[in-house]
Amino acid sequence: MSPEEKADATGRYFLPRNVEEAERMQNQHEWLKGGANGLVLAPIDLKRENLRVLDAATADGYWMQDARPIFPEDTEFLGFDNAPEGYPPLNSKPPLKIVQQSLVEEFPAEWKDAFDFVHQRFVIPLFKSEEVPLVLSNLTGCVKPGGWIQLVEMDFQTPVSEPLESCKAVQMVHKLTSGVVSDPLAATKLAGRLEENGFVNVESKAVDMIAGSANPNQEMGERGARNMLSVLGFFQSVAKPEMIGLTQEEWADLPKRFAEEMEKYKVALKVYFVWGQKPETAK
Ligand SMILES: C[S@@+](CC[C@H](N)C(=O)[O-])C[C@H]1O[C@@H](n2cnc3c(N)ncnc32)[C@H](O)[C@@H]1O
Repeated sequence: MSPEEKADATGRYFLPRNVEEAERMQNQHEWLKGGANGLVLAPIDLKRENLRVLDAATADGYWMQDARPIFPEDTEFLGFDNAPEGYPPLNSKPPLKIVQQSLVEEFPAEWKDAFDFVHQRFVIPLFKSEEVPLVLSNLTGCVKPGGWIQLVEMDFQTPVSEPLESCKAVQMVHKLTSGVVSDPLAATKLAGRLEENGFVNVESKAVDMIAGSANPNQEMGERGARNMLSVLGFFQSVAKPEMIGLTQEEWADLPKRFAEEMEKYKVALKVYFVWGQKPETAK
């Protein structure tokens, strides 16, 4: 990638970086953890000593803070983000180690084959399909032979809400989000991409995350609904009604209609958890 292409890929991130956004992502984290029944789905041996964990695109490191108790106490965590300073630091003890690094720039040599577990969530669809191999080769390069990578991403395109014919606003939201991200189906391609990178034991679990009153857990349903409405606001802020064939009035009404559908129907989004292992013999 040329420096201009890297700047373009990096500049495409349109979500804010501030206190409110950190709180939104923390709420989203809890919703996801509830939906997937945990944070680490890869079958990593959690009894081993001196594990090293890397969280990519970590934002404020909330995932690391929450994942810490799952791992042995001597596990070392490192997070990176291309603009970590945008988020208020978490009051975490011991403090989280977070460094600045972009996914599309060359990674530090000392990260090569250095981590037992590499985790990344919610950033890949912003990259164009042809940019993803660079991002993934950077990430897979950090995994120790025998270690694991876990990627978590949303399928922006495939509707899973029911009854779909009644969920008109939800369908509009899919159209909108699919038109804004670079590759709305990126999540569905990750397992194949890990295999192309020579990873073995590649598996994935697709979880339909329910937002709103159809979630059997009321708190989780509310977390989901709150999250989806904030996310819709961000997408609307960088798009125009014409993009999805709406009038100004329909556009202004979209959040209200979406909220009503989350109240009345089973509104859900498909999130893929994909994991794979670097072969022991990998160099
Ligand atoms: C939607 S947030 C997800 C944060 C966190 N992984 C989570 O699941 O809560 C995406 C994060 O990716 C970061 N990001 C965007 N482009 C990046 C890049 N080129 N390199 C590294 N991080 C990037 C953003 O700063 C943001 O913190």
